[in-house]
Amino acid sequence: MISVDSSPQPTVLVIDDEAGPRDALKVILRPFFTIRATDNAKSALDVLNSEPIDLVTLDQRLPDRHGLDLLNDIKHDHPDVEVVIVTGYGSLKSAMEGIRQGAAGYLLKPFNVTELITLTQQTMDKKRRLDFLRRNLRSSPELWEMCEQQARAWDTIKLEYFTLYMNAGKNAVFQEEEMSLVPLLSDILEATDRHLLNHSSRVSFYATLMAARLNLTVTEQKSLAMGAFLHDIGKTSFPAYRFSEDQILPSGEPRVCTEHCERGARLAITLGLPSEVHDIIAYHHERWDGRGYPHGLSGTNIPVLVRIVGIAQAFDHLTADAPGRVCLSAETAIQRISLSSGSHFDPQLLDTFIEVAKQSAASLPMMAVAPAA
Ligand SMILES: [Fe+2]
Repeated sequence: MISVDSSPQPTVLVIDDEAGPRDALKVILRPFFTIRATDNAKSALDVLNSEPIDLVTLDQRLPDRHGLDLLNDIKHDHPDVEVVIVTGYGSLKSAMEGIRQGAAGYLLKPFNVTELITLTQQTMDKKRRLDFLRRNLRSSPELWEMCEQQARAWDTIKLEYFTLYMNAGKNAVFQEEEMSLVPLLSDILEATDRHLLNHSSRVSFYATLMAARLNLTVTEQKSLAMGAFLHDIGKTSFPAYRFSEDQILPSGEPRVCTEHCERGARLAITLGLPSEVHDIIAYHHERWDGRGYPHGLSGTNIPVLVRIVGIAQAFDHLTADAPGRVCLSAETAIQRISLSSGSHFDPQLLDTFIEVAKQSAASLPMMAVAPAA
């Protein structure tokens, strides 16, 4: 049963220790939101723990804590709450760090009223879409079961999601059927865990770097980018999934989890995605030596696009800067995956990847947060 939100006016918690900006935010936002306000981190957490809050505006300098520390706690304990950072020019760099840690956006003091209203409205539009997806991903097993209701359940999700998307004033024109699904699939990844979305975006970026070296056709490049972005989409079927809880083996491979490949591949068929995208999702844990899963394919029996994604995802698992992860430098990660050349990975493709990674070294650390597809 797919449920659509009919909640009352959303609630904003304004956190600012200075009375001037705090009162200005309250006055400007009051026509659109129910307002709560506080001047310190401790009472902000008390409010968040005791009543439903949709959106937080967060000043970076608070008397009892730095705003970024508070942001981390909010995102950890209340991942569904959206945060907009309010900052001065002097602390713009740390506002950017806030975006990396999951803030939806930032606002410069003294704030422009139109910008403030636009940013908070856009953030709420997105939250409505993510909340809709969270509710339904967690409570609709038919989305993932092999049954004839699966296609019908996804048709309903698509219809409701695109209604929310269009109501938010998005007039996207999609040329191709599968491209129209990208915002939905991207939001599904984010609704599950934003670190999973970031991982997916980076793997797609690394795979695309490889594509430029391998004389792939335009169609293959597009399938590679999309397949890499969706390789772990099956993980969104697990209600309590957290990216930080994936156990990573020394080679960069996550612990065996056959189900996410099968469920993701089934979804690719149901949504009518290209066969190359399906193959990447289904086989990205196969190994060059045939000891991977779920089918034990080996060597060139594993399609080349799949082999590329296998390397890219292992590299990202080793270098991902996410909670609970030991994050290796690109150089150390390359040394580590080189040990699996010829066992986990296609040796020739791995050599190309290492070459590409070394040449792009300057941009790799910047990819901690990659743009959504
Ligand atoms: Fe995976």
